[in-house]
Amino acid sequence: MKLSRGKAEVRALVEEARGRGASVGLVPTMGYLHEGHLSLVRRAREQNDYVVLSIFVNPTQFGPGEDLESYPRDLESDLELAEQSGVDLVFAPEAEEMYAPGHRTWVEVEELTRGLCGRSRPDHFRGVTTVVTKLFGICRPDRAYFGQKDGQQAFVIGRMTRDLDLGVEVVVAPIVREADGLALSSRNVYLSEEERRAAPILQRALCEGEVTVGAGERDAEAVRSQVRRRIEGAPEARVDYVELVSTETLQSVELIAGEVLLAAAVFFGKTRLIDNVIIKVP
Ligand code: PAJ
Repeated sequence: MKLSRGKAEVRALVEEARGRGASVGLVPTMGYLHEGHLSLVRRAREQNDYVVLSIFVNPTQFGPGEDLESYPRDLESDLELAEQSGVDLVFAPEAEEMYAPGHRTWVEVEELTRGLCGRSRPDHFRGVTTVVTKLFGICRPDRAYFGQKDGQQAFVIGRMTRDLDLGVEVVVAPIVREADGLALSSRNVYLSEEERRAAPILQRALCEGEVTVGAGERDAEAVRSQVRRRIEGAPEARVDYVELVSTETLQSVELIAGEVLLAAAVFFGKTRLIDNVIIKVP
C-alpha cells in the first residue's frame, strides 16, 4: 500500500494503474476509520483492480462553530486498517494541497441540499460536492463508494455525478451498525457514557416508523410525529429534524407512496447524530 500527500503523485499512480488496464475504485472519507468505512473499501476491493482511499477532513463542509478542529483523527491506525482491507493507495492531503490560495469555484446541487441536514448546515453540501468533484478529478475513478448512513449526501452526489456527466459510477452501500443498532460514526467517540446508552433510540424510533408504514399508515405527518415523540422520550436527546421525504426530490411528502426516506438528526449532548431508513410502499 502506498501513502501519498500530493495530487500530482496520486494522478500519476492512478494513471499508471489505468495504463495496466486496471479499473479504479475510490472511497472518499474523513478518516478515523471504522467498519462502516471498511465495508465500502471491501465493496470497492471486490469490484475494482485498484482501490484508492482518501482521508481528508474537508474544512469547507464544516460550518462556523462546528467540530472541524476537534474532529477525531488517527492516521496511523487508519493506515493499518486500510492496508488490512486491501487498499492500494491512500491519498491524505493537507488542506493547502486541496485548496490553493485563490480557490473560487464551488459545485452546488440545488433543491436537494435545502432540506434535511441542509436546513441546519446551509453550506455543508456545497463543501461536500466541491471536494468530491475535486477527488473525482484527481483520482479519475470508474466507481466511487458512499454509505447510505449519510443518505442525503449519497443522493446529492448521485445527482451531481449525473448532472455534470462526471462518468463515475456511484455505488451506495448499506448502513453498518453496532449490535444495539447505533449506526457507526466517527463522531460516536464524542458521546458520554449516558449519551451512548441513549443513542440507539434514534434507530429504534426510525424502525418503529417503518413498521407503522408497513402496517398501512400513509399520513407522513403521523409517522414523523410518532418518531419525534419516541426520540424525545429520551431526556438526553434533542431532535434537530425528523423528516419523511421522496427519494426522488428529497422534498417533504404529505402522503407516503413509492419510495421514501425517513431520516432524522438528533443531538445527544453536543453530538449531532444522523440516521435514516428507506421505505418502499407497494
Ligand atoms: P465520512 O463521514 O468519513 O464518511 C465516509 C463514507 O463512509 C461516507 O460515504 C459515509 O456515508 C460512509 N459511512 C460512514 N458511516 C457509515 C456506516 N455506519 N455505514 C456505512 N457507511 C458509512 O462522508 C464523509 O466522510 C464526507 O462528507 C466525504 C464524502 C468524505 C466528503 O468529504
